[in-house]
Amino acid sequence: MPPCEVKKDIYWVGAIDWNIRDFHGYSTYMGTTYNAYLVLDEKVTLFDTVKKPFMSDLIHNIHKIVKPEEIDYLVVNHVEMDHSGNMPEIIERIKPEKVFCSKMAEKGLRAHFHRHDWPLEVVETGTSLSLGNRSVTFLETRMLHWPDSMFSYIPEEKLLISSDAFGQHWATSERFDDEVNTRELMAHAAKYYANIILLYSRLVQKLIKTVGELGIEIDMIAPDHGLIWRGEPGRIIEAYDKWSRQEAINKAVIIYDTMWHSTETMANAVADGLVQEGVSVKMMSLKASHRSDVMTEVLDAKAVLFGSPTLNNGLFPTIADMLCYMKGLKPRGKIGAAFGSYGWSGEAVKLMTKAMEEMGFDIAGSVRIQFVPEHEGLKECVDLGRKVARAMKEA
Ligand code: FEO
Repeated sequence: MPPCEVKKDIYWVGAIDWNIRDFHGYSTYMGTTYNAYLVLDEKVTLFDTVKKPFMSDLIHNIHKIVKPEEIDYLVVNHVEMDHSGNMPEIIERIKPEKVFCSKMAEKGLRAHFHRHDWPLEVVETGTSLSLGNRSVTFLETRMLHWPDSMFSYIPEEKLLISSDAFGQHWATSERFDDEVNTRELMAHAAKYYANIILLYSRLVQKLIKTVGELGIEIDMIAPDHGLIWRGEPGRIIEAYDKWSRQEAINKAVIIYDTMWHSTETMANAVADGLVQEGVSVKMMSLKASHRSDVMTEVLDAKAVLFGSPTLNNGLFPTIADMLCYMKGLKPRGKIGAAFGSYGWSGEAVKLMTKAMEEMGFDIAGSVRIQFVPEHEGLKECVDLGRKVARAMKEA
């Protein structure tokens, strides 16, 4: 994809990864992009690089604007390999006068590449760097989402280069939010938040407050993945504010798997109970839904229900995987419930309940049925759905 001028003399020079389908456990079924930005000023500056296999895309794009060796400064906003995997080759190629990064990024770069001859210069929140006609102010955003993460803000342009934050995994030929369908864009942004940023929601709240207090004016947000927020940068800040407060709607997500359809039959009956009480329900069989799509639905759900058969005295493997993944992302303020069919031991319901309690869910109830549910058993499942709905109303 050719370079794109995002502001006068500031270019997107990144790469599009149309074919990636798994981003360490996150299903990127629409690919992603690795964004890098080149600022032409007295000091020509490259902000971030791309994933290693895309080195030639980056160099080609830079070449269309300047000779790579004319780049004076390199800014590393984030150490993770999708943005710094080609650092040795890039530094060798452009031979920058300086490489700016946070203190934690300095440690991270050394731990990844074991190079002590790079011209690293540590910056911190508030450090201002002159590029000539423009300047860059750095803002460390530790644990959003790595310890090294940082934003670069160009006040003269009201441009925030935001590293992973405000990104989306979505490969497109368009570069700006106002060139694509807003609904689709926000769905990708929500999935990205639910699977990457959710765990750090308290820090997001703190960051939004800090940005407000500092009076930073923003008319463009340029993340390292996906579309650049040009039309309505406030839209994604408002969404992050809402998502990080983990505001829930009148929605329940039923996450289940099944061996011989008994637990599935129970899931449908639980859903009936919820719907009868006016709750919107998302049924997510783990045979049909990827864990990262489930998390996207969990983001704004008031209740999360798990259904698993008991297999070998334990959880069905897909349910164990989902619980482990969800636990790491720390959703808050949910009402939980568990159900499942079993043959002779029936530990799964207890295990799911314990896992949800460990996540801080408020448990509304549970149902276990031996082998195949019949009328009475299904009535219990409907009642469980109703009970969860009542707990949602009271919460
Ligand atoms: Fe896009 Fe945390 O790397």
